Amino acid sequence: MFVLAHLSDPHLGPIPEARLSELLGKRFFGMMNWIGARRRNFGASTLAPLMADLAAQAPDHIAVTGDLVNVSLPAEFDTGATFLASLGPPDRVTVIPGNHDAYVRSALQYHLERWAPFLAGDDTHPDTPLDVDSFPFVRRRGPVAIIGVSTAIPTAVFLASGKAGRAQLDRLRAILRQVKAEGLFRVVLIHHPPVGERHSHRDLRDAAAVRAVLAEEGAELVLHGHDHRASLSRIPGPDGTIPVVGVPSASAGPEDGRGAGRYNLYRISGAPGAWACEMESRGYARGETAVGPRDVQVLLGAPSAVPA
Ligand SMILES: [Fe+2]
Ligand SMILES: [Fe+2]
Repeated sequence: MFVLAHLSDPHLGPIPEARLSELLGKRFFGMMNWIGARRRNFGASTLAPLMADLAAQAPDHIAVTGDLVNVSLPAEFDTGATFLASLGPPDRVTVIPGNHDAYVRSALQYHLERWAPFLAGDDTHPDTPLDVDSFPFVRRRGPVAIIGVSTAIPTAVFLASGKAGRAQLDRLRAILRQVKAEGLFRVVLIHHPPVGERHSHRDLRDAAAVRAVLAEEGAELVLHGHDHRASLSRIPGPDGTIPVVGVPSASAGPEDGRGAGRYNLYRISGAPGAWACEMESRGYARGETAVGPRDVQVLLGAPSAVPA
């Protein structure tokens, strides 16, 4: 049994003091958004108890699907690195960027530089600088291959859309084929959901192309953030449907309109052709301030047998 935890969109605060020149344009509006969110019980006071519960569950690995920061100021990436290190060592914690981690064009390098130990593939030499061509990366852990896709592209003010891009999708296709041949359980991490309908200002521009690659090559599990909502969809794959799971923001309080703060645990067992995966959702619930178990669903295979 391998236990993978998934959390997303912590949008860590506070936003550090910035030079006026850094706050012109898109960052200014992002800053106003963050101040508004804080008033809605969104932040460290809800994140810390959730992360304490996560640590107590002692998962084998933790996946963080982006939007760690808010307006991509340099100091926010140091806060992000501290947060990632608080979850565990880099070989047990994997991050991919979200749109807020590439909020403006001048900030594109920060996550690649400052979070490198957490988003470098197994075959990347520690001294090799990461760039957009480093995605997707692969990290093999026990029976699982964790495949990190980047949809983080800088966009104009009021836009939160993402794109994987043709070159990355060509590499994703080859990676999915390779790790299947190795007999591994394939988990794809992608910030923007490749399923569902949403306004064009915040969608995944090439969602259909991403789904086409998944439909051809398959994957056992796709995990995303961005919507700040709990969701479970299924998309066609070559060997049956592929579960696609979204999780609310880890910093959302019990009264958050999009969903109280949660993380998910995936208990993975079985073997190639007969994988089993059960998901447990843990966190807050509306009207309750304590963190606890909320929901269990079987995503793949038969429900796990209860010991007598
Ligand atoms: Fe987000
Ligand atoms: Fe996002």
